[in-house]
Amino acid sequence: MNEAIYRPGLEGIIAGETSISSIADGLRYRGYPIEQLAQYSTFEEVAYLVLHGELPTRAQLDFFTGQLRQAMELPQEIVSTLRDIPADVPMMDVMRTGASLLGHWDPQAQDISAQATLDKAVRLVARLPLVMCYRHRLRSGQEVVPPEPGRSVAWNILWMLRGQEPQPDHVRALDVTLILYVEHEFNASTFTARVVASTLSDLHSAVTAAIGALKGPLHGGANERVMDYLSKLSSAEEAETWVKQALERKERIMGFGHRVYRTGDPRAAILAPYCEQLARQTGNEAMEAVAGRIEQVVREQKNIPPNVDYPAGRLYYYLGLPVDLYTPLFVISRTVGWSAHVLEQQAANRLIRPRARYVGAEPRDYVPVEQRG
Ligand SMILES: CC(C)(COP(=O)(O)OP(=O)(O)OC[C@H]1O[C@@H](n2cnc3c(N)ncnc32)[C@H](O)[C@@H]1OP(=O)(O)O)[C@@H](O)C(=O)NCCC(=O)NCCS
Repeated sequence: MNEAIYRPGLEGIIAGETSISSIADGLRYRGYPIEQLAQYSTFEEVAYLVLHGELPTRAQLDFFTGQLRQAMELPQEIVSTLRDIPADVPMMDVMRTGASLLGHWDPQAQDISAQATLDKAVRLVARLPLVMCYRHRLRSGQEVVPPEPGRSVAWNILWMLRGQEPQPDHVRALDVTLILYVEHEFNASTFTARVVASTLSDLHSAVTAAIGALKGPLHGGANERVMDYLSKLSSAEEAETWVKQALERKERIMGFGHRVYRTGDPRAAILAPYCEQLARQTGNEAMEAVAGRIEQVVREQKNIPPNVDYPAGRLYYYLGLPVDLYTPLFVISRTVGWSAHVLEQQAANRLIRPRARYVGAEPRDYVPVEQRG
């Protein structure tokens, strides 16, 4: 082996090959720029692209959406569990349990062939929205609203949460966030999924582990944490004072910065106009002004641009979604990317098993307990 390279956080290390997405020259899924996919495509079409490698023909898309819609159902046992989980369990923990539980009722849970993994991916993408929406209604003391099988994932999420037909522009805004969250190369949760897959474990195990990684505030959890401060600041002036003091205390401002995009996250730029439009429509201009001032100060003082979670958190807030559903929405979308990576890992597998640099105690001999001081 060549001299081992060590970088904390594996920063800049190439840890594998992928043909699913690239981030070197803007974000592209399977070669297509994210800007074009966000403008012209739908979550379902992008999911097909990411899972299969090519944009679908009309017939392929119809078949794929048919498969997704048919799979939008939950075993009664899972609905009962969602009812019984203690009310204060965090929603991301419920999503993690939900992914694992779905495996127990999946007829192909242990089958790691490519076809079975693809079929399971479709079922997970169809059913995780039900886990999230049903759990939210049940914990709020409301009965569940079953999905409308003729409608899209984004439409159904709003429908199942609210029990009212959603406005087309709300559906579109949510759909765009789902497109943007689908895939992002070797981020922490995707790498987690690949490590699990590399042991020849199954898709539900990989997705369950990935959800655990996505929960953390340095990764997916940031879209919720953005609201911790935005919801408390009522004017741009107050926001400026708060953010300057936070930066002085060397705090990290959630929704800013990125390990790879040092000059700007293209996904944030795509979402910004949707955010502004929804803010106007829902009377949330004051929060946009607060957000704008914070962005300006963080750029001026640290030269750090916002990442996707900054506008996504606000957009979900303007849609009236409960804050603890923001990262679960990320889960629903990223399940597509995780599944594509599991397929890719298994197609050319090598167990992921890096080395560690040992920095512990010098070699020493065991001392019986009576002789220890
Ligand atoms: C995403 C993130 C973990 C990447 O971190 P990283 O690659 O480890 O960044 P670094 O630690 O190299 O940061 C470089 C400098 O920028 C600062 N910085 C990075 N992100 C920051 C943020 N959000 N707010 C304030 N300062 C930040 C660091 O403190 C460091 O400053 P220093 O040189 O004075 O010590 C980091 O930007 C962060 O914590 N962001 C907030 C959480 C978030 O929004 N996550 C979602 C990512 S999509």
